Amino acid sequence: MELPFAESFKIKTVENIHKSTREERECWLKEAKYNLFALKSDYVYIDLLTDSGTGAMSDKQWAALMQADESYAGARSYYHLKDSIEEITGFKYFLPTHQGRAAENVLFSSIIKAGDFLPGNSHFDTTKGHIEFRKATAVDCTIDEAKDTQLIVPFKGNMDLGKLEKVLEAHPAEKIPAVVLTVTNNTAGGQPVSMENIRGISALCRKYGVKLMIDSARFAENAYFIKTREKGYENKTIREIAKEMFSYADFMTMSSKKDAIVNMGGFIGFRNEEDWKKCQMYNVMFEGYITYGGMSGRDMECLAQGLYEGTEFDYLETRINQVRHLADKLDEYGIPYQKPAGGHAIFLDALKFLPKVPREEFVAQTLAIEIYKEAGIRSVEIGTLLADRDPVTHENRYPALELCRLAIPRRVYTNNHMDYTAAAIKNVYDRRDSLTSGFRITYQAPIMRHFTVEMEPVKR
Ligand code: F0G
Repeated sequence: MELPFAESFKIKTVENIHKSTREERECWLKEAKYNLFALKSDYVYIDLLTDSGTGAMSDKQWAALMQADESYAGARSYYHLKDSIEEITGFKYFLPTHQGRAAENVLFSSIIKAGDFLPGNSHFDTTKGHIEFRKATAVDCTIDEAKDTQLIVPFKGNMDLGKLEKVLEAHPAEKIPAVVLTVTNNTAGGQPVSMENIRGISALCRKYGVKLMIDSARFAENAYFIKTREKGYENKTIREIAKEMFSYADFMTMSSKKDAIVNMGGFIGFRNEEDWKKCQMYNVMFEGYITYGGMSGRDMECLAQGLYEGTEFDYLETRINQVRHLADKLDEYGIPYQKPAGGHAIFLDALKFLPKVPREEFVAQTLAIEIYKEAGIRSVEIGTLLADRDPVTHENRYPALELCRLAIPRRVYTNNHMDYTAAAIKNVYDRRDSLTSGFRITYQAPIMRHFTVEMEPVKR
């Protein structure tokens, strides 16, 4: 008999989690003003809000904590991290930051001016926030195939080279501080970008004299998909593939809370010394001295170890297989989601799931709320709430896709939790015809409203 798949780890420490009743959850939701970010985590049974900073560290990472050096300047842990970053990404220069958006803040303070344009493939919300905050424009050049959730294409996170070239042609190079390539493409569904696409983007950047930045939060998952889906890479190691991906870039920003499996941390990698030096002042102002930048020595030591673990094939196979396990269950129940399954999450297609809820009543948020009510599972809206309002007209921006994301933390839940989640979603799907109304906003912040929005149900 062929042996079934099994995880590449065993469990040493556990944390108890608790179920609740539907009545309790309805009451907590009301108190949270129907914003799932405002729920206490103790009110959540399975937390799929994010895969960011929620992973389980290994015994080796916990051991690294104790070996760390907390010196203010020139700490041994900084040099360990430097070696690990250089070995895995090839970037010789780096600045530590406390998380990914801090890396964006430091780098963008150095390179973006008002009126600039930054083309990319579905910029993440904080990336876009940092661009728009500086009165520059993020231009989305993601391939159109990403908008059809039922279309199965291997690299649905790719940038459309035609769209990119139009932006590069339309503006002088001085107005384009960087092309922002996000791997994997989170917003489009955790979808990978092919090496062929990265090469094409890099060639266009060189042709127009523009720099390439890789938003690398999930670079190892992207490398896994290249290895398993792209011709010519089947015999290369994840680290060889990652090195090649980064070889085309001038900068990288990293949210280490994802593929480096730490609870907090980030960094910026630089190809050349001059760019690194220009950023140092902002790092000191916003984060901390250039050899710790918002991280303690133990954070850096853990991160150095996490970068190695996150780029091991067996670990990645265990991880991606769990996401696929949930997807297979959803397929069994006929539930619409962004196909094929992404690296870190499943993205339910809320417009297909709840066709009777009007678009202006926040369909994906309505779905996320129903899933929480059903079984205490917390997901997150990636739709109109997150897309926010147009900075000029202040009207809602309706994105092509209205998604409800179930992000799977690394090494945290078992496949039984995935089965439980799929069953809860099926129960909501079975009663979808009775779900005809959504929510209206009662409070929203000027930008990035989804974190603190307050809502109430629309009653008809
Ligand atoms: N880039 C991408 C692609 C991300 O997914 C995130 C965070 C960031 C940058 C910012 O990093 O959180 O360390 O400041 N994504 C999380 C998520 C929050 O839930 O997808 P950060």
